[in-house]
Amino acid sequence: MQEWDMTYDSWEPEQQLLREALCTLGNGYFATRGAFEEASAERGIHYPGTYLAGGYNRLTSEIAGKNIENEDLVNWPNWLPLTFRHPGGEWFDIRKVELIAFRQELDMRQGLLQRRLHFRDKQDRETLLVSRRFVSMANKHVTALQWELTPLNWSGAVEVAAALDGRVTNSGVERYSALQSQHLAPVQQGRHNGETIFLEVQTVQSRLVMAQAARLRAYRDSKPVDLQLEVRLEEGYAAQQFTLQLEQNKPVVMEKIVQVHTSRDQAITEPLQEACKNIERQGTFGHLLERHALAWQRLWNRCDFETSCNEKTQGILRLHIFHLLQTVSANTVGFDVGVPARGLHGEAYRGHIFWDELFIFPFLNLRLPELTRELLLYRFRRLPEARYAATQAGYRGAMFPWQSGSNGREESQVIHLNPQSGRWLPDNTFLQRHISAAVAYNVWQYYQATDDMGFMTFVGGELIFDIAQFWSSIATFNPERGRYEIRNVVGPDEYHTEYPDSDEPGLNNNAYTNVMAVWVIQVALKLFDILDDARVKELCQKLSITAEDQARWRDIAAKMYIPFIDDSGIIAQFEGYERLAEFPWEAYREKYGEAMRLDRILESEGDNVNKYKASKQADVLMLFYLFSSKELLDIFERLQYDFSPACILENIAYYEQRTSHGSTLSKIVHAWVLARSDRRKAWHSFQVALVSDVEDIQGGTTAEGIHLGAMAGTVDLVQRGFMGLEIRDEVLWLDPVLPEELGCLNFHVRYRSHWISIRLTQHTMRVSFDRSWSKEVRIGVQGQVYTFKTGEQREFTLMN
Ligand code: BGC
Repeated sequence: MQEWDMTYDSWEPEQQLLREALCTLGNGYFATRGAFEEASAERGIHYPGTYLAGGYNRLTSEIAGKNIENEDLVNWPNWLPLTFRHPGGEWFDIRKVELIAFRQELDMRQGLLQRRLHFRDKQDRETLLVSRRFVSMANKHVTALQWELTPLNWSGAVEVAAALDGRVTNSGVERYSALQSQHLAPVQQGRHNGETIFLEVQTVQSRLVMAQAARLRAYRDSKPVDLQLEVRLEEGYAAQQFTLQLEQNKPVVMEKIVQVHTSRDQAITEPLQEACKNIERQGTFGHLLERHALAWQRLWNRCDFETSCNEKTQGILRLHIFHLLQTVSANTVGFDVGVPARGLHGEAYRGHIFWDELFIFPFLNLRLPELTRELLLYRFRRLPEARYAATQAGYRGAMFPWQSGSNGREESQVIHLNPQSGRWLPDNTFLQRHISAAVAYNVWQYYQATDDMGFMTFVGGELIFDIAQFWSSIATFNPERGRYEIRNVVGPDEYHTEYPDSDEPGLNNNAYTNVMAVWVIQVALKLFDILDDARVKELCQKLSITAEDQARWRDIAAKMYIPFIDDSGIIAQFEGYERLAEFPWEAYREKYGEAMRLDRILESEGDNVNKYKASKQADVLMLFYLFSSKELLDIFERLQYDFSPACILENIAYYEQRTSHGSTLSKIVHAWVLARSDRRKAWHSFQVALVSDVEDIQGGTTAEGIHLGAMAGTVDLVQRGFMGLEIRDEVLWLDPVLPEELGCLNFHVRYRSHWISIRLTQHTMRVSFDRSWSKEVRIGVQGQVYTFKTGEQREFTLMN
């Protein structure tokens, strides 16, 4: 890992699927895994995958005698295929030649993937192959690849073939292999003009159409070579083939430019006509690359994080920003999509959207707020479905699905396969009702960062009111306790979905859920003062919010029940948590290592993780991640619970010992909550979170898609966690606790229409107002508030 590049110097077949995910190229509209151009899907080695943002389809599979419908992010036709052979020989296969040199490089600055192979075949012919490709950030419908082929000790003919391959299925995750995977049906394939072929396919249920047009050219000494192209067409497949005479040491360059359009596009007549029309307008690979690299330069200008830390940390932080921006970017705006937890990089979790946005939006809010706004609109457009879900479950307001896809219905699977035991088991994680609170939290954070009153008035307010109404209706008053309770839910920790002695799914009074419910209701009450009276009236009428409802909201905000362990200040993860058995951590860690999926391990041993005080991920500790101690102490005080800052440290220590970090999100939260109390441990957790994907610490999961929450979360950990960046009371607060290991930091944030540069060393912080189109803003540094105007710059000496 270098500052701007990720490089592999040898070919390791067992690493290939992981590298494909990590070398995925995308532009927020679609993405393609970093598979070799000449390879087709082969279990365990190659999995070329192309995914369209919002490109879902449903299929029904029969499992254990039941019909189960699943919605998947579809694997679209593979546009990569390009290969060669010597006449009469086999098509090129990296495994069948002797590799003299191998180098694969992901250039994050330009968004370019390059591979350089020097190999010798069985006839002792030595050849150099250099491949380069990108998915254009400048024109979201364009992607391009280039091959430079040089015969080093031979001259002769080669046959070259390029294709668009629609005969693909969703087969990237082995656990799903019993499920139906044929999402695409061929529509048509053909030749457009002398140098272009096309392919059109349609999803079988959602009827989304994708058309791809590919133009093939070759150059010698930068001059076009006259190609005699033969076209081969089969259902769902279009290929071009030609023969070239190669001369020793004279490179030939081949360019395949591909145009992609879908029926989800705006401003088109229909995908195929657009693809064929627009491919004719595209320039050379070099020209397109230039535009693409400039688009990336503009993004990096806004989004880069420069540190003086070691190359590896710097490189990984950039890799995380890179993959985030490849999944959602300016190209996503207007496209009605959310952020899939595993990016557009693989098929894990079927491309669904979870609460991970909570970890992802803070980075975007402070750089590309127009994008977060768009991603929040994805939720807003699905409010009717969330309202319906609430009604069906017997509640009011809006209940968002734990897993969301095309139309916002609940996409969580009903049963899932434990690959460790081979058994299909009921999946009750859909009971994570806290997802709705995350939606409201994200709305509020966006509003804090932007002060976007228009959005709050017409979109955010409605979301928050409807979610508050949901929490109010799911809460029940327990007269014995004199408090409100929320029963039958699951918290963020997915190991606990029911009580060990119960047949009913769900737990009572998950502390995180209950506090979040109170917080949402408090924000909704605040909105009565923030929004104008006319709009408040309109919303109350539209959502049937009565004066009694508001009185109940106030009552809940004062009387929600929060479970504690006995008389200690330790918050119980849920009611009854204290009765669970302690888990034999030592023995299991010795056998399975640090990050464990205890749910799967214990089930395969005939045991049940529900019995133990063992969490998959941060649950109670999420509260200290999302709220400052001041905000949290205020909530507890209003609820009349005795909770002091010292309790926070006790809670962290308690749950740290009882968490297996079976989710990559977990270490982010742990690093965050320890940032101020135990810098050494915080740094360690940060380091673990940082390598979650590059080192695939969950053992095989990254190959199925990156963990976008952990990726964005690590960057946010630096930006907000270590910077102590917080927006509170109309002030942007900065209170850095920069780990020594990180050295210096240099980055920009956009806060309420201002671009602010921050330069931080271990002892000083320089804050400059670069560009802006609004008036002054207030910035608080280590407790003191300053007013900044455009062009101003101040340097602060930091007290440690
Ligand atoms: C975690 C969830 C997360 C999901 C998608 C699960 O393993 O437990 O918290 O939302 O992965 O990233």
